[in-house]
This record gives sequence, C-alpha cells and structure tokens, in this order.
Amino acid sequence: MKEQLESIRKQAVDEISAVGSEAELDALRVKYLGKKGLLTGILRGMGQLSAEERPVVGALANKVREDLENYIAERSAFLKEKELQERLILEKLDVTLPARKKTLGKLHPITQIENRMKEIFLGMGFEIAEGPEIESAYNNFDALNAPADHPSRDFSDTFYITPEVLLRTQTSPVQVRAMRGKQPPIRVISPGRVYRFDEVDATHSPMFHQLEGLVVDKNITMGDLKGTLSIFAKSMFGEETKTRFRPHNFPFTEPSAEVDVSCFVCGGKGCRLCKGEGWIEILGAGMVHPNVLSGCGIDPEVYSGFAFGIGLERVVMIKYNINDMRLLFENDIRFLKQF
Ligand code: PHE
Repeated sequence: MKEQLESIRKQAVDEISAVGSEAELDALRVKYLGKKGLLTGILRGMGQLSAEERPVVGALANKVREDLENYIAERSAFLKEKELQERLILEKLDVTLPARKKTLGKLHPITQIENRMKEIFLGMGFEIAEGPEIESAYNNFDALNAPADHPSRDFSDTFYITPEVLLRTQTSPVQVRAMRGKQPPIRVISPGRVYRFDEVDATHSPMFHQLEGLVVDKNITMGDLKGTLSIFAKSMFGEETKTRFRPHNFPFTEPSAEVDVSCFVCGGKGCRLCKGEGWIEILGAGMVHPNVLSGCGIDPEVYSGFAFGIGLERVVMIKYNINDMRLLFENDIRFLKQF
C-alpha cells in the first residue's frame, strides 16, 4: 500500500505540473482528492490492514493528501500569476505615447454672429420670440399690410406649400405673432431662417437668415429706432460706427428706411469692402404701420412702434470680409474653421 501511495503521489505531481489551466487543475483535484478519488479509495481500503500497519499507512496517506493539496494550491497560484502576466502583456498601454488630438468643433460663423446679436439686444432689454418657418400666407403678407396683389406674393418669389401656407419669406410674421392677443409694452427680437425663390449666386441663397426686431409701447418714435440701431451698430462693428437712414418702402412700416453703417474698414472714406461708398447697407426698418397694429388688436392712437430686419449672412460677410455667400453653406471645414 505504501508503494501504491507513493506511485499515486508521483503520478499526481507529474500531472499537476503539466496542467495549463485552472479548469484542468480542478479536474485533477477531483481525480485524486475527491470523494471518489484515487487517494480516498486507498484510505477506504485501510480496513484490511493489520493494526500495526494501519497507523503507518494512515500517516503516509494523510501526508500525501496534505502534500498534494499544497502542491495544487501552489500550482493554482502559479497559473493565476501566469495568466496575469499574459494579460499585462496583451493589454499593454503605452502611457508615453503622445495623446491623440481631440478636435473640438466650433459654431458656424452665422451662429456666432446670431449669438452676438442676441447678446447685444438682450442687453437692451429685448426678449427672444419664436415663429415657425412654415407660416401662413396671412401672417407673412396680409397681416403685414401686403395685399393680395403685392409683388412679393408672386409664385415666382415665394415657396408655397398650399396657396395659404408657405415658407416664410421674412421674419416679419413673428411681429404679428408677438403682437396678436398681447398688449404693449412689447420688445422682442426673433432670429431665424427665411426662404425666397432666389437663384444661388455670390450674394443670394434661397435660404438665408434674418433677425427681426420689434418694439411697441406708448411714445415710441423714430428717434428710439435710430438710437437702438446705433447702439447695435457700434456694438457689432466698433464704437466709431455711424448709421445712416435712407428712405425706402416696406408695406408694414411707415415711414420705412434702409439702414447703412459707416464702413468699419475705411471709416467712410471708401475702400474695397464698401465698394468706394463709405457705407454698407445692413438692414431694413421703419415705424410699424397703423394697419398692422390695429390688425393685431393694438390701438394705433395709443401705441406706436418700430421694427427692423437684419440679414445675418450680410453681417457675417462684411464682418469677416467674405465675398461669396455660397462659402457659408458649403460646409467645407477648411473654410469654416477660420472663424
Ligand atoms: N422684412 C423686411 C425684409 O425682409 C425687413 C424689415 C423688417 C423691414 C422690419 C422693416 C421692418 O426685407
């Protein structure tokens, strides 16, 4: 029996030394030390031994069991360590490598200018009003004093969805939305997209952006309009900037004006940017027409107001000296990342 025990030990040690995984090791643990294991089998057979032999063989069997348990534990620790080392090599991370550069996007120049304008007008106490890009012909034209035969209503000028619904051609219908059902004081701006049946060229796009402004209260005069736009122009183009009002015609304002700013490159002397004019046109404005006020339920005998509409692309192009509007919509990163 002693020989048997020694041979089991030798066989077990050989096999344990050869295993490469915890699972194999577990199988050997069962094979030798388990309830039906080889060593257990020997211990069961000890009943047949003589009284002198029994303690000697018993002691040896216990010793073999203990040795094998220790050896299995040792092997298990070795396998775990080996697995760890392998993983360390496999999952190696070279912290000395230079980090991959993160490219952070930035806002489109039109959005940047829009944000700057919002800042300027919010600073003057305006609130932001919103209106939909799909608008009723009524809000876009009729309510703005542009009757059915007005040229801007022409099918070749405007994207109609139905005869009564269209893509707004201006942000001015937001004026109507801001006034209807409300009473002054009203002081809102509304930036957004507008659509016109325009051929794409260096200064035209069928989709562009405007920022509308509207103030209605008691005793609002053209002086308030001039003062507001003057502050805007100085904040946007520099303290030296002057504004100039030229008579114009819009159906929904009376009187109406086109507003120029003095060229911030040459200061008014005339240069390439202002095409020798000294002035750059940036917006349309005027005093809200009494018909528009009364149509929205505001008494023109009590209240008056002014409105203006600024083209965002135009401001972006003069501010950044861009000579082709198409560049703003082509989404070429090489162009856009300059701003
Ligand atoms: N809506 C006009 C346009 O698109 C601009 C404007 C707005 C004029 C408000 C006067 C008052 O040309």
